Amino acid sequence: MSSKMRSFRVLLGVRVTAAVIAAVGAVAVLSYLSLRQGLDRQLDASLLNVATIQAAAVTDDPTGTMRFPEWELTPEEAASVRELNRYAQIWSADGESLVRGRYITDDLPLDSAALGRAASDELVWTRGTFQGRPIRALYYPLERLGELHTRHVLQVAAPMEERNRMLKSVGLLLLGILGTIGASTFAGSWWLAGKVVRPVDRIIDQAEGIARGGPSRKIDAYADTLEYQRLVQGLNDMLGRLSAALETQKRFAADASHELRTPLTALRGEIEVALRRDRTAEEYVKVLDSALEESERLSRLAEDLLTLTRSEAGVLKPHFRKVDLVDRINRTVSRLSNEAQEKGIELLGPGGSPVEASVDPDLFDRVVWNLLGNAVKFSPQGGRVEVHLVRTDGATLVEIADQGPGIPEDELKKIFERFYRTDESRTPGELESGTGLGLAIAQAIVELHHGSIKAENRPEGGALFRASLPHAAVGDAARSPK
Ligand SMILES: Nc1ncnc2c1ncn2[C@@H]1O[C@H](COP(=O)(O)OP(=O)(O)O)[C@@H](O)[C@H]1O
Ligand SMILES: [Mg+2]
Repeated sequence: MSSKMRSFRVLLGVRVTAAVIAAVGAVAVLSYLSLRQGLDRQLDASLLNVATIQAAAVTDDPTGTMRFPEWELTPEEAASVRELNRYAQIWSADGESLVRGRYITDDLPLDSAALGRAASDELVWTRGTFQGRPIRALYYPLERLGELHTRHVLQVAAPMEERNRMLKSVGLLLLGILGTIGASTFAGSWWLAGKVVRPVDRIIDQAEGIARGGPSRKIDAYADTLEYQRLVQGLNDMLGRLSAALETQKRFAADASHELRTPLTALRGEIEVALRRDRTAEEYVKVLDSALEESERLSRLAEDLLTLTRSEAGVLKPHFRKVDLVDRINRTVSRLSNEAQEKGIELLGPGGSPVEASVDPDLFDRVVWNLLGNAVKFSPQGGRVEVHLVRTDGATLVEIADQGPGIPEDELKKIFERFYRTDESRTPGELESGTGLGLAIAQAIVELHHGSIKAENRPEGGALFRASLPHAAVGDAARSPK
C-alpha cells in the first residue's frame, strides 16, 4: 500500500474520534464557562453581602472615629477557612485610610478611580493583587449611613485563589475526560474498522491468489455472509467469465493455428514435390494452379479470422443505412448463380415488393453470402434453394431453405461455433474448402444488429436458416408511418 493511501481504519478512527471530541469538547467548554460564571456571581454576591453587613455594623463613637464590630473571627480562626477570608477597609474620598479590618495589617490596594466613583454613590467592582494573591474587591459608598459618612467609602475584598483552584481542577478534569473519551473512541473505532475490513482483506487475498494462478478458481471466504455475499458472488462470476473467455480464446488460437497449418503444409508439400525434378510446363501450371487455390483458401481464412476477432474485440462497428433487403439479397443470389448452375441448383431470391430496413449493407451481404453459400454447397445436384423475407410484428426474418442433408438435431446449435463442422461436411471432396467460420461470422454480424440466428431441419427435408433482425434496432421501414 502506498504511503499516500490512507487505511480505512485510520480514516474511520480519526473521523469518529474527531466528531466525538468536538461534541464532548463543546459540552465541556460550555460547562466550564457556566461554572466560572456561577463562581464569579457567588463571589460577588457574598462580597456585597459582607459589605452590607459591615456597613451596617460600623459604629461611630462620639469622637467621630469608626470601628468594625468586635465579633469578627480572629485571624487564626479565619485562616483555617481561606475562602471565608474577607478583608474590609474604610477610606476617605481623598484616599486616606480610616479603618482597617482585623484580618489585615497592610492597606488594601487602592484603585483611586474606583474610589472616586464610589464616593459619588456607586458600587464599583475591581480586581487586583493583595500580598501576592489575586483578589476581587468591592467599593461600597457609605454615604447611605448618614450625613457623617458622605465622604467615606468601604472597600471589601476576597481572595480569588479558591475560585481559581476550583476552575483549574474542573478544567483539568474535563480535559482528562475528553482525552479518555477520545482515546477510547479511537481505539474502539480502530478495532471495529479492523473487524469490518478483515473479510475484505481475506477476500482480496484469495482473489490475488487466484490471479497468481493458485489452485483455487473460486473465492470461498465469507461467501455465506450476508454483507459480503454480493461482493464474493460478483467476483466469482467475473472470475468464471474471465476463465471461460480465456478458455475460448485459447481454443480459438489453437484451432486457428491448426487451420492455418494444414493448408500451409499441403502447399509446401506440393511445391517440394514439384521441385524434386524437372517438370513440363503443364505440370508447373498445374502445381501453381493448386498453389493459387490453397493461397486463396488461406487468405479467405485469414479474412474470416480477422472479422471474427474484430467483432470479438468490439471494433467491428456496423454503419447502418436504409436499404432494400430484396435488392441486396438478389445481388448475392446472382453472384452465386454460376456456382448454382454448375450443380444444376435452382436458386430463388425473395422477389416481390421492396422491404426496407436499416442495416449495414456490407455486413448484411456477408450474412446472406455465408448462408446461401452453405445452402448451395450442401445441396444435392438439381436441388432447390429458396430465400424468403418475412415481416413479423417485431422483426424482419431472412429465411434460407435448401434440400440438402440437413443437420443432426444435436448439432443445430454447435454449427454456429467457430471451426465447427458436422462430420458429413468434413469428408474429403469439394466441401472441404469450408473454414467452419462462416456461420460464426453470420451469427456475430446478426448479433451486431441486435438480432438472432437459428438453424432447423425442414419437415420435408433440408435445412432452414432463419436470421431475425428486430425492427426496433434496425428501424425497419414497416414501422415508420406511410
Ligand atoms: N445448409 C446447410 N446444410 C447442412 N449443413 C450445414 C448447412 N450450413 C451449414 N452446415 C453445417 O454447419 C457447418 C458450419 O458451417 P460454416 O460455419 O459455414 O462452415 P463451413 O461452411 O466452412 O463448413 C458446416 O460445416 C456444416 O456441417
Ligand atoms: Mg460456410
